[in-house]
Parts: sequence; structure tokens; C-alpha cells
Amino acid sequence: MSRVFVLGSINSDITISTSRFPKMGETVTGDGFSTADGGKGANQAVACARTGGNVLMCGCVGNDSFGKALKKSLADEGINTGYIYETDTSTGVAVITLYNGDNTIIVSRGANACVSVEQAKAFLENAEKGDILLSQLETDFDTVKFALAEAKDKGMITVLNPAPADERAGGLCSLCDYMIPNETELETITGTDIIEDGLRILKEKGVAVPVVTLGGDGCSYIIDNQVIHKPCAKVKAVDTTGAGDTFCGSFCSELSRGKGFEKCIETALRCASISVTRKGAQPSIPYLNEIE
Ligand code: RIB
Repeated sequence: MSRVFVLGSINSDITISTSRFPKMGETVTGDGFSTADGGKGANQAVACARTGGNVLMCGCVGNDSFGKALKKSLADEGINTGYIYETDTSTGVAVITLYNGDNTIIVSRGANACVSVEQAKAFLENAEKGDILLSQLETDFDTVKFALAEAKDKGMITVLNPAPADERAGGLCSLCDYMIPNETELETITGTDIIEDGLRILKEKGVAVPVVTLGGDGCSYIIDNQVIHKPCAKVKAVDTTGAGDTFCGSFCSELSRGKGFEKCIETALRCASISVTRKGAQPSIPYLNEIE
């Protein structure tokens, strides 16, 4: 079994449920407030660990109570937190509005922006051929780029979830074995809202296997030059926060245990489907025994 090195963000999520989104300048009364551990990187690390992955994480939190608590809960998940650094910048925070099962998110990156090339270098120093690097774009872009290049040099398998959407991700394609955007991110990177065309553009730019997540419609990918669509289970979504992260983390967990690509996709879809039936980013992520 190989190890999964997750380089990414760690946030405190603050969520308010509402019966509709406010218009500009308007105040609406929410139906409920909750907090949960989040951040795309941390969510993916937790999804990977809960589904049996051997996970190490690199990131930054603030030297504050949020940061200490977030780091501790990652360690409680069995994740190696030795490369999570405390900085003077406050811990990242995400303000989430939850409406009808779907969400909008505003992130204050805070300490996440401090993850440096030096930290990424130290993190990957002992990584070996066949280990996996999983990253996103909520930390410093140049650090992610460096880490992908370093991982490639070491013969690692590289997986990038290019979220939040960033058109610069097109320049990372040749460094990615797997790139897993959602529809919005795919359009931002490729300039087309036609899924098949977008996937083919990623492939032409150098992604070995491009995969797009499609929410309740499952996912599509290119393998052997064929665009394949995989539907997922139909469930009642109460909160989609972290569903894409659950997909990416559980995908890498299966990959790290040498499972074939189709099996990795099947598990990732099942885990993501379960996660949307529960509230919160990390609280909603399933454990291996729930999908077996
Ligand atoms: O992908 C969901 C995550 O995005 C949330 O947990 C929030 O922290 C933001 O990073």
C-alpha cells in the first residue's frame, strides 16, 4: 500500500441555512447555524483516511484556538500532522450559505496562503515512487505547482482537484496524472461548457486521465481515448459541502491500495453520494465500513 501526501487547505466552516439567497443589500433570516471542520485539503485528507488510506498532510493553520483544534482533529483521524505548521496569520475560515441542499462558499484563506515551497519540499523529501500527491488550489498556487513538479520527478502519482476554479490550472495539466475538476472548474480551465470537449482539452494539455465530477449526475472521464459517463446513486441531498472533496480523497485511498481505476471511481461516487445526505464537510464523510 502506498502513502497519500495531501498538500492543502485547512478551514473552520461557518454555515447558515437559508430559505433563499439574499439579494444585494438585503438581509434574510437564516434557519440554523453550525460550525464544522473543513478546508478542501483537510476534507480530502479525512476522506482518504476514513476509507483506509495512509495519509500525511502538509498545510498551515493560525496560532489560534481554531488552528489548534483543527490540527488535533486531523491527528485524531490518524493523519500524520507533522507537516502542519502554525503561523501568525489567522486560520482559514469559510462562510457557507446552505440553500435547498446546495451551497455558496466564501473563503478567507488566512494561514492557507502561507504554505511555502520550502514546506512542500520538506514534506515530499521522504516520498517514494508510487506514493500519491493529492492537492487543490486553496493554498499558494506556486507552491502547488512546485509540489506537483517535485512529485513527478520522484515518480509519484499526482492528483489535482483544481478548486477553487482558476484558469492558471491549465498550465498544470502536464504535471497531473489525474485532474478532477467539477463542471464550473472544467469550464474555467478549458473555456467550454461542453463536458466532452473540456475533458478532451485537458487530455490534449497533458492530463493522463481527466475526470469531471457532475454532482447528482455522477462523473465522466476519458480512458483509452473514450469519454465514459458513470452515474451515481440517486439520493436526497441535504448538504453538498465537501462532496467533491470526499470523491477525491476516497478515490486516492483506493488508488493507494492498488485498486483499478474503475473501482476507484465506483468507491468515490458511493462515498460522495453518502456525504451529501448528511450535513457539514468533515462530519458527512463516510467510513470504509459504510460502503463495504
Ligand atoms: O470543498 C468544501 C470546502 O471548501 C469547505 O469545507 C470550505 O472550507 C471550503 O474550503
